[in-house]
Amino acid sequence: MSIEIRVLTAAEMEKLLPRFAEILCESVLSGASMHFLADITQESAKDFWRGVLEKAQSNSVRVLGAFVEGVLAGTVTLVLDTPPNQQHRADVSKLLVSSQYRRRGIARALMSELENVAQEAKRRLLVLDTGSGSGAEFLYLELGWIKVGEIPRYSLEMNGELLASSYFYKELTSPNESA
Ligand SMILES: CC(C)(COP(=O)(O)OP(=O)(O)OC[C@H]1O[C@@H](n2cnc3c(N)ncnc32)[C@H](O)[C@@H]1OP(=O)(O)O)[C@@H](O)C(=O)NCCC(=O)NCCS
Repeated sequence: MSIEIRVLTAAEMEKLLPRFAEILCESVLSGASMHFLADITQESAKDFWRGVLEKAQSNSVRVLGAFVEGVLAGTVTLVLDTPPNQQHRADVSKLLVSSQYRRRGIARALMSELENVAQEAKRRLLVLDTGSGSGAEFLYLELGWIKVGEIPRYSLEMNGELLASSYFYKELTSPNESA
């Protein structure tokens, strides 16, 4: 299976809005902790991605898409609008892989390319959070991210329980620096 990963322009995102919305709805409804709850709709998901698209237009985020045979199979967002004293770092948000494409290395490939994009933007420290105990937590540990801890009872789940959130960081080294 060949995976093509690239940074999307706002115009490309506009065309792909229904697919972005579909992937987000699918992930939320299958239990991923992604800000939304069971009342997510294709429209509310599209509104969310429209907001991201506007930030892509103003260069405050870079949205990466993973394509398999031309179909958007996954995405991740690098958030660059950090405060003036944190221009060396970036946040990572909305890593999503459509369920039918999971466990084929797409998230790994997206996160690898995200590191290249971060390096190009001169961001050397990446930060993210994810629901504790999720598959994503295993993924980040596997990819060398450092877990700094958990905040208990952080976000509401669809089953009415409050789930802890885990915080991770990764420091990037340039090719001629030792890790
Ligand atoms: C988490 C998610 C992005 C992983 O995407 P993916 O393309 O299936 O991940 P990969 O195939 O690249 O996995 C790479 C490695 O990460 C680990 N991993 C990935 N998903 C895992 C899971 N559900 N459970 C345990 N380990 C997992 C494994 O070590 C895997 O390697 P392996 O398949 O050789 O064992 C995907 O399941 C998803 O979209 N989940 C819902 C949304 C979500 O939780 N996003 C994270 C928000 S922070």
